[in-house]
Amino acid sequence: MFRTAVLSLFLWQAASVASKPCKPKPHSGDVSKCKLAAHNDVHFSAGFNLAGDCVPSTGELKAFMIFVDFSDAEAPSNDPPKNLRDFLVPDAQDWYTKASNGALTLNVTADVSQYYRMPASAASYHWSTGLSSAEHLVYIQDALQAYTANGARPPPPETEVLYLVPTRSAGSYMTRSMAYDGRANTREGTYVARKTVTFGVDPFETWGFKALNHETGHTMCLPDYYPYAAGLDTRYYVGGWSAMGDISGPGPDFFAWDKWRLGWLSDDNVECVAKHGTSEHVLTPLEVKGGTKAVVIAVNGTSAVVAEARVAKGLDSSVCAPGVLLYTVDTTVATGDGPLRVLDANPSTNGCGGDNGELNDATLSLDQGKSLYDVPGWGVRVRVVSQDGGKFKIRVHYS
Ligand SMILES: *[C@@H]1O[C@H](CO)[C@@H](O)[C@H](O)[C@H]1NC(C)=O
Ligand SMILES: *[C@@H]1O[C@H](CO)[C@@H](O)[C@H](O)[C@H]1NC(C)=O
Repeated sequence: MFRTAVLSLFLWQAASVASKPCKPKPHSGDVSKCKLAAHNDVHFSAGFNLAGDCVPSTGELKAFMIFVDFSDAEAPSNDPPKNLRDFLVPDAQDWYTKASNGALTLNVTADVSQYYRMPASAASYHWSTGLSSAEHLVYIQDALQAYTANGARPPPPETEVLYLVPTRSAGSYMTRSMAYDGRANTREGTYVARKTVTFGVDPFETWGFKALNHETGHTMCLPDYYPYAAGLDTRYYVGGWSAMGDISGPGPDFFAWDKWRLGWLSDDNVECVAKHGTSEHVLTPLEVKGGTKAVVIAVNGTSAVVAEARVAKGLDSSVCAPGVLLYTVDTTVATGDGPLRVLDANPSTNGCGGDNGELNDATLSLDQGKSLYDVPGWGVRVRVVSQDGGKFKIRVHYS
């Protein structure tokens, strides 16, 4: 993927010679102008300090998992709840530990003693045709009714996230996974959890444990990066970058922008450009600890361009075009409408990393494709001037 060390060194030197005529101004160490504030009237605005009822994204996140079955979809005896728990939980917990650089510990306690029988049939919830928030709550409260047995079995206190997992037998009925936005109370009014994730069978069969990471992202108020608009491919807007977009994409690690918002990256990991001029920055790969993970160019109070380095390491081991990924952030755009949009530096290619991988080679690099990108209409130009091992030196021109 990268050239030999000798050649990389040569490129690095060649580039620093070429950069001499232009004296880059140092960027300011103050990142506050780049912390675009969330718009609280926008659902899951991608800005900072959203005033939502989000679960904590650092420290220990306590979750509780229960399993349900139905009169018309009985759990088979050869697929006990422990199978599903082992399929979903350990890898998802590990994924968050890695993605957050140890800042978040997801602690899922699962009641694997039995499938609790729902009071209504699986067919009656008509998930495949979509359900309203009120109907979603009926499902959640039915599960709590089945589980608590009228208060005899209270769920653990301090549960932030409740996971409801149906038997695989209910696959033809429970076709989607959803995160419920409101708090979950039993019908008797006992508070149970801040957020609830109700799994469908197909999502976890298709995406595996990362379905849990995606839905739990919503409990932290992360938006969906795939489009809600009919007719747009799932990979539109961000391609296979971020599990909040295409869960099965080659680069599922969360964007540096989100990691910064969630408290998984510190201000020291971010360089902020908020003034016109030229500056140089060295990005280290998002997937490894330490260094500068994002250069944010804030063009006004609601929009920014972000540059980050993404390589085939860690959670992104399948990345097929390592390089500097550019995307826009707009805090006035709601979930599903493209609050983050990857900028395609190689629009004429077919992409990489499977079907519809158009945006998976959107990166800038000296190894393949382009090393310069002008953001149309934004006055922002980003050039990769050298790269050495996993590090990318970029020059940002903002006019
Ligand atoms: C996870 O939570 C359970 C229940 O609150 C607690 O007993 C356990 O010690 C926690 N595990 C870790 C690793 O913190
Ligand atoms: C901020 O900049 C973006 C990109 O140029 C533009 O689309 C948007 O309208 C601007 N917003 C404001 C409030 O100026």
